[in-house]
Amino acid sequence: MFPAAVLLAFSFLATAYAQQAGTLTTETHPRLTVSQCTSANNCQQQQRSIVLDSNWRWLHATSSSTNCYTGNSWDESLCPDPVTCAQNCALDGADYANTYGITTNGNSLTLKFVTQSAQKNVGSRVYLLSSDDTTYELFQLKNQEFTFDVDMSNLPCGLNGALYFVEMDADGGKSRFPNNKAGSKYGTGYCDTQCPQDIKFINGEANILGWTGSASDPNSGTGQYGTCCNEMDVWEANMNGAAVTPHVCSVQGQTRCSGTQCGEGDERYDGICDKDGCDFNSWRLGNETFLGPGLTVDTRQKVTVVTQFLTNNNQTSGSLSEIRRLYVQNGKVIANSKTNIPGMATFDSITDDFCNAQKEAFGDTNTFESLGGLAQMGNAFQQGMALVMSIWDDHEAGMLWLDADYPTDVPATNPGVSRGPCSATSGDPTTVESQSASASVTFSNIKFGPIGSTY
Ligand SMILES: *[C@@H]1O[C@H](CO)[C@@H](O)[C@H](O)[C@H]1NC(C)=O
Ligand SMILES: *[C@@H]1O[C@H](CO)[C@@H](O)[C@H](O)[C@H]1NC(C)=O
Repeated sequence: MFPAAVLLAFSFLATAYAQQAGTLTTETHPRLTVSQCTSANNCQQQQRSIVLDSNWRWLHATSSSTNCYTGNSWDESLCPDPVTCAQNCALDGADYANTYGITTNGNSLTLKFVTQSAQKNVGSRVYLLSSDDTTYELFQLKNQEFTFDVDMSNLPCGLNGALYFVEMDADGGKSRFPNNKAGSKYGTGYCDTQCPQDIKFINGEANILGWTGSASDPNSGTGQYGTCCNEMDVWEANMNGAAVTPHVCSVQGQTRCSGTQCGEGDERYDGICDKDGCDFNSWRLGNETFLGPGLTVDTRQKVTVVTQFLTNNNQTSGSLSEIRRLYVQNGKVIANSKTNIPGMATFDSITDDFCNAQKEAFGDTNTFESLGGLAQMGNAFQQGMALVMSIWDDHEAGMLWLDADYPTDVPATNPGVSRGPCSATSGDPTTVESQSASASVTFSNIKFGPIGSTY
């Protein structure tokens, strides 16, 4: 992900865990079937479930329905300090469909963009739980392949339907941080390479120190801490563009940051994580006719996205050396596009050589390399990474980094600036939340297994 996601607070009645667990609404995880493959055409269905991230949940006093957090501010009596707040406040269960617009059916998950109930909800983020329905499923994808179908036909400019992996604790941090009683059953413990500071609880403590409301989002704010970890963006996309992007950190596992470590603003390249990542976006890399409505990969229809994580010795024990992408649509396998950038060799996959060549051609700072490159991404997979699916809009940069010209203060003709066909104003949150409220993304048919087994 590039900037932080949009988060909402709720103030209607429901029950709760803080970072205890609440019980005004029973937490029932929507079921989702996935497939583990062992060889071609040999896949076993597995019953799994998904859980909503804790930041979207109603947070109230453990003993009553008094809000601990309303809009973008904390209740001062329930939350006088970070630890007391974690002890006094509970995260409640979620009404997935009616409040958050999250539904599943067999192997298919649909995330709606804006859902109006007693409150208005914008976007969502869910995690895949393992067969115990309580801890995150952790994926070890070195020398493996991960495949899913996606329908982006209802996802316009400025929105992002994302499927990615982050190096969260399997239990959401419950065992490392005893004030976190809710754990992964309530979607706690999120982290990514943006080191988001809008997360309400980090390391079992409320992020209330220095909390400042967002200028553009009445339901969000940021505290002095961020939560960082390695991130593999398999898919960040809408109808007009897509990127696959590994991002790494100098640390292993979920890590709280403060100050320069978080890499905010002018310190973007001084933090412990690589916020830019090494992205493969076909448009940005010189092919403007590869993916989009009616193009080679036609985003008006469902498409199968295959991602292969190859290692230097073709074994699970090896070092991650290449991330390959291919598509399948209407029974036809479509090879990834080839780069077409003056002065840059031709690539069709992500390798360290590709990353270095791309950073040089575009004049970008190469923190991906300095923080460990693909080998470090592989270390995260060796540890195990949780699967995230989300839909969001972008209060920091209007998603221009994905589907438009970005940055906006340099000529669009500079190498690497044009990333997609969308306009400079297309991702304005106020506009997309009103004009594209009914947008949605559907992910389905998740499969994983050895290279060549899933499509
Ligand atoms: C874009 O990709 C398509 C499909 O691979 C290919 O036919 C076309 O020539 C490519 N265009 C450029 C400019 O590379
Ligand atoms: C790994 O597999 C590829 C493709 O089959 C092959 O070209 C390569 O030589 C293999 N590498 C090693 C180290 O065995």
